[in-house]
Amino acid sequence: MVSIRESIHGEWSSRWAFILAATGSAVGLGNIWKFPYITGENGGGAFVLVYLACILVIGVPIMMAEIMLGRRGRQSPINTMRDLSIEAGHSTHWQYLGWLGVIAGFLILSYYSVIAGWAIAYIMRASSGVFTDASVEVIKNEFVSLVGDPEKLIAWHTLFMVMTMVVVARGVQGGLEKAVKFLMPSLFIILILLVGYSMQNGEFNMAVKFLFTPDFEALFYKTDAQGNQYMSWNAVLIAMGHAFFTLSLGMGAIMVYGSYLPAGTSIAKTTFMIALADTVVALLAGLAIFPIVFANNLEPGSGPGLIFNTLPFAFGHMDGGIIFGTLFFILLTFAAWSSSISLIEPAVAWLVENVKISRAKAAILMGLACWGMGLLTVFSFNIWSDLKPLEDIKIFKDATIFDLLDYLTANIMLPLGGLLIAIFSVWIMSREASMEELDMGDRIGFKLWRFLVRYITPIAVIIVFLNVLGIVTFK
Ligand code: TRP
Repeated sequence: MVSIRESIHGEWSSRWAFILAATGSAVGLGNIWKFPYITGENGGGAFVLVYLACILVIGVPIMMAEIMLGRRGRQSPINTMRDLSIEAGHSTHWQYLGWLGVIAGFLILSYYSVIAGWAIAYIMRASSGVFTDASVEVIKNEFVSLVGDPEKLIAWHTLFMVMTMVVVARGVQGGLEKAVKFLMPSLFIILILLVGYSMQNGEFNMAVKFLFTPDFEALFYKTDAQGNQYMSWNAVLIAMGHAFFTLSLGMGAIMVYGSYLPAGTSIAKTTFMIALADTVVALLAGLAIFPIVFANNLEPGSGPGLIFNTLPFAFGHMDGGIIFGTLFFILLTFAAWSSSISLIEPAVAWLVENVKISRAKAAILMGLACWGMGLLTVFSFNIWSDLKPLEDIKIFKDATIFDLLDYLTANIMLPLGGLLIAIFSVWIMSREASMEELDMGDRIGFKLWRFLVRYITPIAVIIVFLNVLGIVTFK
C-alpha cells in the first residue's frame, strides 16, 4: 500500500525545500549560542564527545523516526499519533505524546524568543561601532547593561515573537522556504571567516585541545555549595538533551515538517545531511569562540552570555569588523527565526485542525501566550536574577528560572518525547509500516535503524535518566 494521504496544510515544493526548512529548524541558537556555553560549563572535550555520540546513535535514528511518523500521519503531531496508534491497533493515549511536544515547544519558544532578542539587540550594537577597539571589560558591560534592563529585553522579545508569528501565520510554503536558501549558506561562510580570525588571533591550539581532548573528570565531577566534590551524570544528560535540542527532536517539530514532505523522498539521506550540517555549524561556532576565550582569559563556563562576550571582541579588532559583526548578528537572528517557527508549528497545526480557526488567528493566540510566558525568562536575567527556586538540590544550586525552564524542556521533556517516539516507532507501529515509509527496503540500513531505535536509544535515555536521579550509579 502506498500512502497517498495529503496534508491539509500543504506540502514542501521539493525534497530540497524540506532539507532547507529542517536544517533551518535545526541550525539556530542551539548551535551558536547554547552549544559553546554549555560545553564551557561542562569542561569541554568529554562533553563534546558524549554530545557527538548522542547525535549519531540517538539523534539520527530518532530524526528518521520522527520524519517517518510525520509523513505517515500527515497532520499535527497530536493527530498523527492518534491516527497511527489506531492504524497499529493500539490505544489512542499515544496522542499525549503529541501534547507533551506541543507543551515543550511552547515553553522552549518562550525563552528562545528572549535570547533571539539579544541577537537583534546586537545587530544594532555591532553596526553602531561600539565594539571597535573595545576592551573585554567594555564588551562585558554592554552585555550586562542589556540583560539588566527588562524593558529593552521585552522590546526585543516582542519584536522577535511578532516576526515568528508573521511567518507562521503565512504557512509553510511561503517566506520560510525562500529565506533559508540564502541564509544558511551565508551563515556558514561567516562562521568560517570567524574561525579564520580566531586561528590567527586567538589561542587556537588551546581551544582545539579544550574541545577535543576528553577529560572525563571534568564531565562527571562537580563542586557543591560547600566546595565539596561530588559525582554526577548531570552533564551527560545535558549533552544528550542538547543532541535533541540542536536537532529539533523529541517534540514533533521535525514530525510536523515531515508531514509536509512529499512521498518518495529518502528519509535516511535527508536526515544525514541535516545532522551533518547542524553538527558542523556547532563545531565551527566552538572553534570561533574558544580561541578568543582563552586569549583573553575569559571564563569558559561563564554561561549564556558567552558568545556575546567573545565574538564582539573579534569584531572590534578585525578589519571590516563593523560589517562582519552586523552581518553575523543578522544571520544569527535569521537562524533563530527559522528555528522558532518550527517550535510553534505543531501547536498551530493542531489548532487549525481541531479548533477550526484560521492559521492567522492560531498564530496570534499562541504568540500572545508564548510572549507572556517569555517574561519569566526576561526577569530571570535582572529583577529575579537572585531567585534560585531549587537551590536546595545540588545540581540546581545556581539555577535561575530560565535555567530551570531550559533544563526541564531540553533535558527532560525532549529526551522523554524522544524515548516515546522510539518506543512507538518500533514496538507499536508495525515493521511493515515503518519499512514502507522509510522506503529503504529490508536491507542493512533499515535493520540498523530498527536495532538502534529498538534497543540503543531507549536504553541510553533510560540509563542517563536513572543516573541523574541517582537511582542507578556506576562506580
Ligand atoms: N534546534 C534549534 C536550535 O538549535 C531549536 C529548535 C527548533 C528546537 N525547533 C525545535 C529544539 C524543536 C527542540 C525542539 O536552535
